[in-house]
Amino acid sequence: MKIAIDGPAGAGKSTVARMLARELGYVYIDTGAMYRTLTWKALQNGIDFSNSSALFQLAENTFIRFEYNSSQEQKVICDDQDITLQIRSPEVNSSVSIVASYASIREIMVKQQQLMAEAISVVMDGRDIGECVLPDADYKFFLTASIDERARRRVDELRHKGYEVNEDLIKTEIVRRDENDSHREVGALKILPDSIIIDTSNLAIGQVLNRMLSIIREDN
Ligand code: DC
Repeated sequence: MKIAIDGPAGAGKSTVARMLARELGYVYIDTGAMYRTLTWKALQNGIDFSNSSALFQLAENTFIRFEYNSSQEQKVICDDQDITLQIRSPEVNSSVSIVASYASIREIMVKQQQLMAEAISVVMDGRDIGECVLPDADYKFFLTASIDERARRRVDELRHKGYEVNEDLIKTEIVRRDENDSHREVGALKILPDSIIIDTSNLAIGQVLNRMLSIIREDN
């Protein structure tokens, strides 16, 4: 079984994807974490984000894997280093959509994601999962929410992690990221003909989960 969850930043994808995977006994794969990992490594190496060939080289020479505990909590390991926390920094947030905009980098990432999902049941979240990574997914959910609600969630998340953030700046950045993620030539975020759209603006995470579970269980 393959379940794809796409949608913009702050729509609640990763929280609900993790819960859904736990509920169904599937593996959760956070593809955004992979683009974040490359961005973090590029920052560490002082690579200019306009240098697509240096970024491509970096992607080819970076080994990303996930480790899970029994609650499906995920650790992100880059070349044997645990960088789970580092990839959520404001610096990574503001540059990751540039890295994700290069078709050559997306090609490498999509191949790795397809390999990870091969032969196991997965819940995978990102932007291009239903279209590029798992075009044959059994379910393609598209989660969305109003910009204000998404910015509020991102602010809460960052404050919870100890970062000092300005709500207006976060909102501006989300709008810019949406713009980049929706308008690139390859792997752009979009609603597909077979997307199941869920607007999470006024839903608690448990309600989103229940809605997804009832759709899946109705068919099985
Ligand atoms: O879901 P997230 O916020 O962790 O994603 C980080 C960035 O990576 C975001 O700008 C979109 C990009 N991304 C992507 O282009 N394709 C994916 N499959 C997943 C994420």
